[in-house]
Amino acid sequence: MGYIIAEAITADCLSYLPRWMLTDDKKIKTFHLTTFGCQMNLADSSTLVAGLTTRGYRRVDQESEADLIILNTCSVREKAEQRVLGRLGDLSRLKKSRPGVRIAVVGCMAQRLGSELVEAIPCVDYVLGTDRVFELPDVIEGREGTSSVMTAFGHENVDQIEPVRETPYSGFVTISRGCDNFCSYCIVPYVRGRELSHSVEHILASVEKMAADGVVEIMLLGQNVNSYCYKDCDFPELLQRVAHETDIPRIRFMTSHPKDLSPRLIETLASEPKLMPHVHLPLQSGSDAVLERMGRRYTCDHYRKIVDSLRTALDYVSITTDLIVGFPGERIEDYEMTLQTVREIQFDAAFMFRYSVRPGTRAARFDDDVPEDEKIERLNHLIELQKSVSLERNQREVGQVRWSMVEGYSRRSREYGRARTEGNKTVLFKTDQPEVGQILPLRINSADAFTLHGEPTEVS
Ligand code: SAH
Ligand code: SF4
Ligand code: F3S
Repeated sequence: MGYIIAEAITADCLSYLPRWMLTDDKKIKTFHLTTFGCQMNLADSSTLVAGLTTRGYRRVDQESEADLIILNTCSVREKAEQRVLGRLGDLSRLKKSRPGVRIAVVGCMAQRLGSELVEAIPCVDYVLGTDRVFELPDVIEGREGTSSVMTAFGHENVDQIEPVRETPYSGFVTISRGCDNFCSYCIVPYVRGRELSHSVEHILASVEKMAADGVVEIMLLGQNVNSYCYKDCDFPELLQRVAHETDIPRIRFMTSHPKDLSPRLIETLASEPKLMPHVHLPLQSGSDAVLERMGRRYTCDHYRKIVDSLRTALDYVSITTDLIVGFPGERIEDYEMTLQTVREIQFDAAFMFRYSVRPGTRAARFDDDVPEDEKIERLNHLIELQKSVSLERNQREVGQVRWSMVEGYSRRSREYGRARTEGNKTVLFKTDQPEVGQILPLRINSADAFTLHGEPTEVS
């Protein structure tokens, strides 16, 4: 009955109706999901898909075929939110022609804006924050205790959430949720809540299940994996236990916070062959004054020492980073220190961003005093510099043999296979039939700034 009433009313009014009128679970059979943001969101999306499909909902590739359209959203920069708002504009129009379609906004932006989202964009039916995402099946079925806007924090059910694999050969395992660092620019602690480590048993069981299903490589995920702590088990110990107590062949992890990266982690990386030699270690800025105002709690010198120790302890390690330009008060001298650090440290790759004010963060109270066109100029110049550094680092790989996991065809050509090296670099090699999940020794023949090129080789 609810459905008939709802159909008769214009789409823009739907979300003001009581939920018993709004929802008709019999009408929702198919769903479409788009994920924005980081790996954490991808991992949550996989779990959400598992939850919906076990309850009988079918995932479809086309929004036009979906009864329920889900956006799993990101708030980390203004641009990320604008992208979601743009999609919601399209969906408002779609809903005019198909008023029965339901729209769910979940994840970080849902957490940040809550009911404001429904008020500002009436086509939105459900808003579920980062800890409530997995309740979407209950919400659309109108189960008792649920409502169409839910943003309360609480990780109480985390251990019951069964991660699903991303691809047949790789998978994410979230080891901790939330973040307690409150870097002054960052929205993540506000939208993901307090840090909480999953139990060792849960992590080991999840990894083992994936290994038994044929997964070759797992990525352990957390905003700051180095601060993982469950009872007496810290991150290096967790890595050792995953390596020794499961049959997973390759283990990766991210993200590492420089303030918590311990010498024991470096020893573990150096001694445990299943651990892939890649560390994503966001530096953010090469200026101590800026790092201080960012609340990062390390100096550039400390960061350099970690990189030196990693490169001394491991025969081969790939180090990647995140950098922000145009942070409030970043003088040209500070920016030049970032450039200088990039030249000195020689990152294998970097994600680079211009500072974006996030409402409610500490830095939002600072004067955002670097003009936008200056930020763009600084960013472009930094990107150019890093491109030349990446090229140099990649060219150093020429002549080396890298054990690489085959992921499929090259995105551009069916004549090439695509694989991932131990250092997390994409390598292309000639083949007309890539064997997905196979670990191949590839000799690197050439390299550009973003990709390596290699060929299968014999090794003893
Ligand atoms: N937990 C990770 C980072 C998560 S966010 C860590 O601590 O390193 C990913 C990256 O987005 C950050 O490393 C930072 O470089 C960037 N970022 C976060 N907030 C930002 C903001 N307000 N403006 C620009 N870049 C930002
Ligand atoms: Fe954000 Fe800092 Fe936490 Fe990373 S460590 S998620 S940058 S607050
Ligand atoms: Fe990730 Fe964006 Fe949320 S970076 S944690 S999806 S704010």
